Amino acid sequence: MRLALVGFGVVGRSFAKLLQLKAGELASKSGLMPKVVCVIDNHSYSQDSNGLDLGKVLSKKNRSGSVGLPKKGLSSSEIISNTEADVLIETTQTNFKTGEPGFSHIKAAFQSKMSVVTANKGPLAVAFQSLTELARHNNVYFKFSGAVGGGTPILDFGRSCSKGDTIVRISGILNSTSNFILTHMERDALDFKSALLYAQREGYAEADPSLDVDGFDSAVKLVIMVNYLTPNKVAMRDVDISGIRGISLKDVERARKTGKAVRLVASADSKLKVSPELLDMTDPLCVSGAYNAVKFGCEFSGDKVIVGKGAGGMETASSILRDLIDIRGMLAARGSTSC
Ligand code: HSE
Repeated sequence: MRLALVGFGVVGRSFAKLLQLKAGELASKSGLMPKVVCVIDNHSYSQDSNGLDLGKVLSKKNRSGSVGLPKKGLSSSEIISNTEADVLIETTQTNFKTGEPGFSHIKAAFQSKMSVVTANKGPLAVAFQSLTELARHNNVYFKFSGAVGGGTPILDFGRSCSKGDTIVRISGILNSTSNFILTHMERDALDFKSALLYAQREGYAEADPSLDVDGFDSAVKLVIMVNYLTPNKVAMRDVDISGIRGISLKDVERARKTGKAVRLVASADSKLKVSPELLDMTDPLCVSGAYNAVKFGCEFSGDKVIVGKGAGGMETASSILRDLIDIRGMLAARGSTSC
């Protein structure tokens, strides 16, 4: 299976490393023999229809900050359109307002009959329906399990919950950075700023961490879940958002004394909301550190909870690989010979 990678930051590079580590196992367990034919980052790109040496691309990136040739006025979308690949792996920086540049990359791939796997939340938040329709129209696959929950298959679990039942309520901890900050304020008495720096050093925060701490990242993930898992169609403007910037060490300490913890909770029932709440320490949603937890309330089968680490390069890369294995299975089922 020929892959093109656009975006070579923490997640893109982790995915390249994971491919190297798992090559043998992927072939024997899933019949997947990926060959990366194109890598594109902000200013450079590298192409080889016989397959790039990922070790070399990774060390070039580490050494010089580039992956190959300068783009010289070519846009990433043009490079994608001129690449012969089966699947585009899209991991560029998230833009919650325009969805760009991810939106254009995904569109270019679909129009060139490539399937797409993305962990980029921006295009899903602003154009979920049009992208899923475009994928269908071009008879290709569109997978994005890494966009919510990092390596934890929250969207897949939600899909399973909604088979034969209806999800009527969603609530959860969707932002690892905020949860990590609140946990370390609680445990180590770190102030907000130091805890945020710690989360950034661990690689959990967005390039602009205000997206994490002001609640937008949780809101985007909530919008993606509602659009993907329920018949409702919602947008960011429908979510009432407040973040954790105003939470002090005193608030956290006061909560702890009463057996509670402050957590940034996202919820969707009759209204969509992201706000700090006091959770009982025994509440299954009251997870620690970079963990996420989501409770799906179903009409007939009741509540179900999924918990797991919600951010991190290798974790998110493993979701991308999971999506790729699924695409390989679907292609094989419809008789495509691509492996
Ligand atoms: N910044 C995000 C978070 C990364 O902290 O949850 C994963 O989407």
